[in-house]
Amino acid sequence: MTQQSQIKLESAIVQDPEWWRGAVIYQIYPRSYQDSNADGIGDLLGIAHRLPHVASLGVDAVWISPFFKSPMKDFGYDVSDYCDVDPMFGSLADFDILIATAHRLGLKVMIDLVLSHTSDEHPWFVESRSSKDNPRANWYVWADAKEDGTPPNNWLSIFGGSAWQWDTTRCQYYLHNFLTEQPDLNFHEPQVQDALLQVAKFWLDRGVNGFRLDTINFYVHDAQLRDNPALPAEKRNPIIAPVVNPYTWQEHVYDKNRPENLAFLERLRALMNGYNAAAVGEIGDDLKGLEILGEYTGGDKRMHMSYAFELLSANKPSAAYVKGVMDHLDDVAADGWACWAFSNHDVPRHVTRWQLTDAAARMYTTLMMCLRGSACIYQGEELALPEADVPFEDLQDPYGIRFWPAFKGRDGCRTPMVWESSNQNGGFSSGNPWLPVSHDHLPRNVAEQEQDPTSILHHYRKAIAFRHSHTALQKGDKAEVGVTDTILHFRRIDGDETIFCAFNLSPEPAEMAWPEGDWRQIGIELGSAGPAPDGRLHLGPWQPALALLVKQ
Ligand code: BGC
Repeated sequence: MTQQSQIKLESAIVQDPEWWRGAVIYQIYPRSYQDSNADGIGDLLGIAHRLPHVASLGVDAVWISPFFKSPMKDFGYDVSDYCDVDPMFGSLADFDILIATAHRLGLKVMIDLVLSHTSDEHPWFVESRSSKDNPRANWYVWADAKEDGTPPNNWLSIFGGSAWQWDTTRCQYYLHNFLTEQPDLNFHEPQVQDALLQVAKFWLDRGVNGFRLDTINFYVHDAQLRDNPALPAEKRNPIIAPVVNPYTWQEHVYDKNRPENLAFLERLRALMNGYNAAAVGEIGDDLKGLEILGEYTGGDKRMHMSYAFELLSANKPSAAYVKGVMDHLDDVAADGWACWAFSNHDVPRHVTRWQLTDAAARMYTTLMMCLRGSACIYQGEELALPEADVPFEDLQDPYGIRFWPAFKGRDGCRTPMVWESSNQNGGFSSGNPWLPVSHDHLPRNVAEQEQDPTSILHHYRKAIAFRHSHTALQKGDKAEVGVTDTILHFRRIDGDETIFCAFNLSPEPAEMAWPEGDWRQIGIELGSAGPAPDGRLHLGPWQPALALLVKQ
């Protein structure tokens, strides 16, 4: 690359304030991407070394899961210093190298801010728990026991048991929506909000282009600590927690989803605007995820995007299901912006979850790249890695250990990335990996798939490039969403560009009428079908059809 084209590339990164709209974001789980110092745990320099692979996919940005100082009880989602790198992952200087490398390659960097709670080893919490009248006494959610000594209300932790933990120094309970080692910050305290905005500013000043914000609908709790109502069995919809978890038995109206969240999100957005940064906020809710998405991302004062759980579903999405999601989104969040994902570090990999054949995995990827919204792909997804089978003795995830064997936790999607076959650890580490490298993953390594032009890795590149070559797919509206038997079809429109997209979400052939008008078949490299001699569209199993409107 010449110096001039590089300057152009770098200024384009900084200048387009709407870069996030329709962006493809690649999620990196730092423990498992690339180890550079043989301790068996991935690190920031390892990521920097592998960024050319990420850039070669054609994605717009990387989201890096937490690498901050942490006792690692929840593998980095329990932060003890927001403004430093855990020595396990490297140093701030390593982060500077990573970000410079990413920008040189044309990639934006989004980091994962976990603002709802800290680690119990964070100095703020250590001070807060030391007495009832220290300067940070009110920085966390403290409450007295009921008269009978039991917790103040019925709120539950997602990771099991009551959301309240007794503290013998203050002789009070503190709130934790996740592990007991993850005390919940008190967002009703203005100083807490100010301190968290300073954290965001620290990283923006260091050059990050945005944030993935952990659990944004959990920030504020009900100040009156009212009990959540019970949710009748027929209304339970286990999306963010497995059905064996009683967390799904409540309607979470008081422990999260509080209206006061919005004021904080607006303060954060105002700060980010000064940096052209964008945020994707994770909204975990079984019942009202899309409604909340509408509230949090509508207009231009709150979040840019919201991470949607609808396609992280346990069951394989059918044509009717995807249409239902699109329709519901239109009804409750027409002005909002979703960020879709099939896999991440919290759910079983989708190839296994949905029992996908290679053809089906390709079709879902193409579909994702045609959906209105932004898209997150999770490391290893571009290799179609299945969920790894991690035996109980090797489990690390406290959530899995607690609910085993009905729910095996999240280690099966967190095993190390596989880069090459010449090394028993797939090129991830020359040490002993923190989670075993899956034998089923080794033959799917990057180096081998690079050699095979028909591999799924190349399919991901083609599908991402296809999206990027059409603004209608990246930023356009959608229209005429329909389902014909097993075919989902819709149009994407931006100005003069109209694209017809159809997908057969089935292992059986299916057909429908070819749309009226003059269309040019596109996406041939993605296996797209065109009109048959009988004037209809005949789709093979898991086949898409993509066409550009030439004349109405
Ligand atoms: C993250 C999880 C984490 C939890 C608590 C999330 O939703 O994605 O990995 O355990 O928040 O921080």
